Amino acid sequence: MTATTQLNPSVREMRESDLTRIILIEREIFLFPWSPANFADSIQSGYLCRVMEDNNAILGYSIMMIGPDEAHILTLGINPRWQNKGLGRKLLNYLFELARENNAKSMLLDVRESNHGAAKLYKQLGFEQIATRKGYYPAMCGREDALVMRLML
Ligand SMILES: CC(C)(COP(=O)(O)OP(=O)(O)OC[C@H]1O[C@@H](n2cnc3c(N)ncnc32)[C@H](O)[C@@H]1OP(=O)(O)O)[C@@H](O)C(=O)NCCC(=O)NCCS
Repeated sequence: MTATTQLNPSVREMRESDLTRIILIEREIFLFPWSPANFADSIQSGYLCRVMEDNNAILGYSIMMIGPDEAHILTLGINPRWQNKGLGRKLLNYLFELARENNAKSMLLDVRESNHGAAKLYKQLGFEQIATRKGYYPAMCGREDALVMRLML
């Protein structure tokens, strides 16, 4: 049995009381993590902030903004303990449905050029690269480009 079959993940709205635990994951998985204030502002702004959990453990989280016709994934992370078990794909499929329910016709996201694992997952799910933002991200040595990817919903 794989670890995914032992899990029974569900997705719910993110709460400010989740942020202490989310920040611990965020700091493990991103070299340039969001601050607690970035997450709190996203919740207060009414962005679609979600947590994937099982048995009170946070497996992953995402923040999505809905504009006219378009959804933007602002951040997405899976707890390192549970990466590569299909949870990122599951959370993205949940977000596709949520975006459709909110009348989005397409979904956009930015990914670091060096983040081959994430970009591979997005391509598997049908995202296509539509642009590059030069020097969009801070990096250890200067700046790094972002690939802008889009999925038609
Ligand atoms: C990227 C991330 C969200 C993917 O979630 P996940 O649960 O680990 O991924 P899944 O198990 O659903 O992966 C499905 C596919 O993604 C790809 N993938 C995911 N991580 C990968 C890695 N480290 N290396 C190569 N491919 C990877 C594979 O193609 C995999 O499909 P396969 O098993 O058929 O080969 C997660 O690894 C993560 O949080 N990473 C750190 C933060 C991050 O990069 N967030 C995205 C910012 S844009």
